[in-house]
Amino acid sequence: MPQHAAKRGKSPQGTRPFNDDGVHSNPVVDERATFQEVVEARFRRRDFLRGVSAVAAGVGVSRIGGWDALAQDSSLTFKELPHGNDERFHVAEGYEQTVLIRWGDPVEGGAAPFDPMRQTVGAQLKQFGYNNDFIGYLPLPAGSKSSDHGLLVINHEYTNTDLMFPGLPEKDFNNVLSREQVDVEMAAHGLSVVEVKKEGGKWTVVPTSRYARRITASTTEMRVAGPAAGHDRLKTSADPTGTRVVGTLNNCAGGITQWGTVMTAEENFNGYFSGDGANTKEAANHKRYGLPKVSWYGWHRYHDRLVVTKEPNEPNRYGWMVEFDPYDPLSVPVKRTAMGRFKHEGANTIINKDGRVVAYSGDDERFDYLYKFISDRRFDPDNRAANKDILDSGTLFVARFDADGTLTWLPLVWGAGPLTPENGFDSQADVLIEARRAGDLLGATPMDRPEDVEPSPMMGTVFVILTNNTSRSKDKVDGPNPRANNKHGHVVELVPPGSGADSDHAALKFRWNILLLAGNPKNPEDGAKYHPEVTEDGWLSCPDNCAVDSRGRLWIATDGAPSAAGFADGLWGTDTVGNGRALTRHFLRTPRGSELCGPFFTPDDKTLFVAVQHPGDEKGSTFEKPTTRWPDFSASMPPRPSVVAITKVNGGVIGS
Ligand code: FEO
Ligand code: CA
Ligand code: CA
Ligand code: CA
Repeated sequence: MPQHAAKRGKSPQGTRPFNDDGVHSNPVVDERATFQEVVEARFRRRDFLRGVSAVAAGVGVSRIGGWDALAQDSSLTFKELPHGNDERFHVAEGYEQTVLIRWGDPVEGGAAPFDPMRQTVGAQLKQFGYNNDFIGYLPLPAGSKSSDHGLLVINHEYTNTDLMFPGLPEKDFNNVLSREQVDVEMAAHGLSVVEVKKEGGKWTVVPTSRYARRITASTTEMRVAGPAAGHDRLKTSADPTGTRVVGTLNNCAGGITQWGTVMTAEENFNGYFSGDGANTKEAANHKRYGLPKVSWYGWHRYHDRLVVTKEPNEPNRYGWMVEFDPYDPLSVPVKRTAMGRFKHEGANTIINKDGRVVAYSGDDERFDYLYKFISDRRFDPDNRAANKDILDSGTLFVARFDADGTLTWLPLVWGAGPLTPENGFDSQADVLIEARRAGDLLGATPMDRPEDVEPSPMMGTVFVILTNNTSRSKDKVDGPNPRANNKHGHVVELVPPGSGADSDHAALKFRWNILLLAGNPKNPEDGAKYHPEVTEDGWLSCPDNCAVDSRGRLWIATDGAPSAAGFADGLWGTDTVGNGRALTRHFLRTPRGSELCGPFFTPDDKTLFVAVQHPGDEKGSTFEKPTTRWPDFSASMPPRPSVVAITKVNGGVIGS
């Protein structure tokens, strides 16, 4: 999601404030005590440099004393790309970029050729959607480790209406959209599944694949499962059962499960709804989830279910993690309510050492929370079907960070602690539908916008990307969110008991520390912290998506660097233990106006797939006069969100 959308001056409609609108919806933030002392306690230089993981994993500990002198020991050997901001996509010298698929390219058989001047619903339903975000690569054949043949599953998070359609007015364009245009937007949301192959070192999309599939906001029927399925608060006039939802909204990041399914996250679902629901029974719930009175889109003008005065329960059917099987093109996606309802950035699973599945997920809102889910049942590596509904029963937890470096996972279980009828929770379904309010009552720690949360199977630690929070005032800083006016964001590392593959992700107490504080290390006002040898191009701003490669290195994609730091968004890699810990290195950068999403590696680490989202989305940019026409650079083609495959010239592992 772009950081600067609210600054494009297209008010009130056309402005999509997303999560950076200067407000938040967490009422407890202003009531909590402050933790200034935590900052000092957690920021002794020694603690910062070591990282608890290094100690826990027994890696690099003996060399920490001499770390500064050994900074050149980063395992990442590519020549860094300079900071910059122009119309093109750049990757470090020695690497190749292949634009694999673009908005409008065919996905399903029979897709019409893309014609941006005459877009139709029928065409878009079979074409690649807009604003690619999450990318997952799943090998073919299923269950193999193939790194040159597989499925790509790609989220289409949202649409930039004014960059998508010709001839719109600069302001209030949502009010003039035709029904056809609105339905094109709905068809451009959702996901795409495409089959991809590497032949002769070059990736291509297989043109007619039996796996090819579009999932959309308007056409794909989904099942609701878990404790909230069929609950009264999920029932609508179109679905009196509360178990069938047509469509998914604002699919941001996600993850691939160990049983070969995809988890896709419904993030800013609130923005699609419209109307003043103050007199509905869901008013407080809608407020806590930030539903606007005037939608960020024009869809409600043609779709009554998006008007909260008419269908107050419809918003309760979004904000979930959705799981589906991309190997079966007829599979019905399932909304997994046991994992809670919030603005899921994504979810990443890991198989705990006892066999249970643990999923980590962040709620991307200023001052909202970090969660994890632990399945009741154990993963069965020998029977894929047995894992099919494993995410329907288990326990959701929310994180409380303490000053002494302890992280406590608090269970969201109906009847426990404050989660009782006295507080308006009459069942586990209520707790899950209002997970945010449950977290408020349990005393969870308000964070600086949790984006991707990704465990490192090799190291056993978990990286929590916190993108920024300029609303955090000096009296609200705490250990895991140590900076006021946090415009550059940071990365927190969670450390379960044990180490490496023996780490206990199901434990209820972890340790935590900070991997890095983004910003310019040469600018004291930023209060940035990295490895001391980070270069002038190696510092970053507004971390968002991430990927951990099979060597345990963390790759951080950014969203918002142009406005916060003055250079294009892109991707930075770093070691997470040893001498190169927190020594971020700049690997690629995106065309102007875009953010980088979806970094995902093939199992051999020799291909990196990335998604360029909303190219040309900046002030003064329009369909007719965009600030970039990447990737086509044709006068008849607007900028197109696209997926890019990165490989090393002559092969080899990305980054080294
Ligand atoms: Fe869709 Fe939080 O980024
Ligand atoms: Ca973001
Ligand atoms: Ca994101
Ligand atoms: Ca990720």
